[in-house]
Amino acid sequence: MLKIEEMKRILKASLPLKRYKHSVAVYETALELASVHGLDMQKVGVSALLHDCGREVPGRESLDMAAKLGIEVDETEKNQPILLHAKLGVYYAQHKYGVTDKEILDGILYHTTGAPDMTPLAMAVYLADLLEPTRDFPGINKMRQLAKEDMEKAMMCAYGQTIRYLLEYDLLIHPNCIYGYNQLAGKFKNRDRCGAFKG
Ligand SMILES: [Fe+2]
Ligand SMILES: [Fe+2]
Repeated sequence: MLKIEEMKRILKASLPLKRYKHSVAVYETALELASVHGLDMQKVGVSALLHDCGREVPGRESLDMAAKLGIEVDETEKNQPILLHAKLGVYYAQHKYGVTDKEILDGILYHTTGAPDMTPLAMAVYLADLLEPTRDFPGINKMRQLAKEDMEKAMMCAYGQTIRYLLEYDLLIHPNCIYGYNQLAGKFKNRDRCGAFKG
């Protein structure tokens, strides 16, 4: 695996500047969560920094690129190819940045849809992507606080918010998002704490 500074150099050369800056912001936010929750800083950092590395493939080319690389495409991804940047990201993390650790790769794989049984590392990456400093939505500061207190509760609220958004715009909901939501909603029957995030 490359050193983090080398990864940053390659990532900067591969992504539009705005996307690179977002990646560094997610990296820093994920490290804060890793520190609060006592996670492996190096692994969280690499997964967060590289979470969008698949974006080096433009959305309109991602279906062709997935076919070329032998990446399996599901029904939801076929309809919303931008989702594929997660699987493409796993490929580039392995082949361009030398990442072999499954937990780091899963953090990249699940950062867009979520999934059931996410590791604390994957939750930190998902939440950092949603909550990095340039993000803004009603209730974001409450969500930032919740992410520091209980990442699973923050994930459940984030799923709810995402699903409401997708329904509003008639977009597809990836099954991993529904499975992830159901798992946590079943675990936390008390929904009060997500009230602030309802649109
Ligand atoms: Fe992404
Ligand atoms: Fe992102």
